[in-house]
Amino acid sequence: MKKSLEALQIFVREHQDNIVVLADKHTLQDCYPLLGVELPHFIVPYGESYKNLNSCEYIWKKLKDKGATRQTILLCLGGGVLCDMGAFAGACYQRGMRVVLVPTSLLAMVDASSGGKTGVNFLNFKNYIGLFKEAEEIFVCPDFLPTLPQAEMRNGYVEMLKHGLIADKSHYDAVKYHFLKSNHPLDPSLIFHSIAIKQQHVEQDFLDTGIRKRLNFGHTIGHALESHSLVIKEENESLSHGTAVGLGMVVESYISAQLAGLSEDDLQQITLVLQGLVNSVNEDIPSMDVLLPYLQKDKKNQSAEINFSLLKSIGHCEHNYTASVELIAEGLDFLRKLK
Ligand SMILES: NC(=O)c1ccc[n+]([C@@H]2O[C@H](COP(=O)([O-])OP(=O)(O)OC[C@H]3O[C@@H](n4cnc5c(N)ncnc54)[C@H](O)[C@@H]3O)[C@@H](O)[C@H]2O)c1
Repeated sequence: MKKSLEALQIFVREHQDNIVVLADKHTLQDCYPLLGVELPHFIVPYGESYKNLNSCEYIWKKLKDKGATRQTILLCLGGGVLCDMGAFAGACYQRGMRVVLVPTSLLAMVDASSGGKTGVNFLNFKNYIGLFKEAEEIFVCPDFLPTLPQAEMRNGYVEMLKHGLIADKSHYDAVKYHFLKSNHPLDPSLIFHSIAIKQQHVEQDFLDTGIRKRLNFGHTIGHALESHSLVIKEENESLSHGTAVGLGMVVESYISAQLAGLSEDDLQQITLVLQGLVNSVNEDIPSMDVLLPYLQKDKKNQSAEINFSLLKSIGHCEHNYTASVELIAEGLDFLRKLK
């Protein structure tokens, strides 16, 4: 991983005859100029509802039109949607071209770009088709963040809070401060510390069969809420990934208090931090009956039971818990009452 815009600019200058840039409307306008060189490029529509196989097919057609080969570098310049989908499309094109990720949202910097999980949504299920495949290089450049809308910054903070909650209480406390005071400039060292926490989990368990599952804290419920919202809402009006995970963290903290020994004080603390995010959501929290089909298809499940990673305390998480439908429904009630 490289950590500066200068390193990225040197890389693109050195490889300019061999790069195709994949961007979306926003990142083409706000981020592409920072590369400093004119490069072949094309865009896909932005937003989670376009993270699908149709968009991949479009990417493959564009790559073919531009004469891309296995040796061509697909430089994915965008948020988590574009990094996940671009890395997947690149891994499939001619059985695998070179892929370089340039995450431009906070969430993509701290989470989506590292760890080698690539993929797209399928039949309304999140990230259902994909591959584990590390990018050839990742450039994390906080210089891209000034144009990122505040709501998108908040989505990134949610994943950073998660990193603190599962592994490092002092990181959680530091990120909490930024999350609650949203106009406070973000110290880049916090971004790199979040990435380090993620990498510690990935290095021990690349294929997500053990300790890496802890990174999914908040995601069992979060992915179900996000998938359902994608079905019922208009394009680009659905719950964002970060918001859905934040709501999932509230429900899963409640379940943690019942199953994993999270103290009432810690539960209250986490809830207080996420209260503003909960208040910002104007759609209803779906019933258990509505969410159950999504939960039953969660990729972490090893049997008919629904799998969770839960907090024992702030900074300490364990994986492979199962919760009953009744307890999950109680957790959803807990979230509903906060609204
Ligand atoms: N692979 C993984 O391990 C992993 C981990 C976490 C999340 N994800 C995935 O990440 C996705 C969410 O990513 P996201 O929150 O970045 O959303 P996103 O990719 O939809 O980006 C959010 C919006 O911000 C815009 N944008 C991005 N960077 C910008 C910049 N610098 N300036 C102006 N606008 C900018 C984008 O065009 C988009 O409109 C979800 O699909 C989720 O599943 C993947």
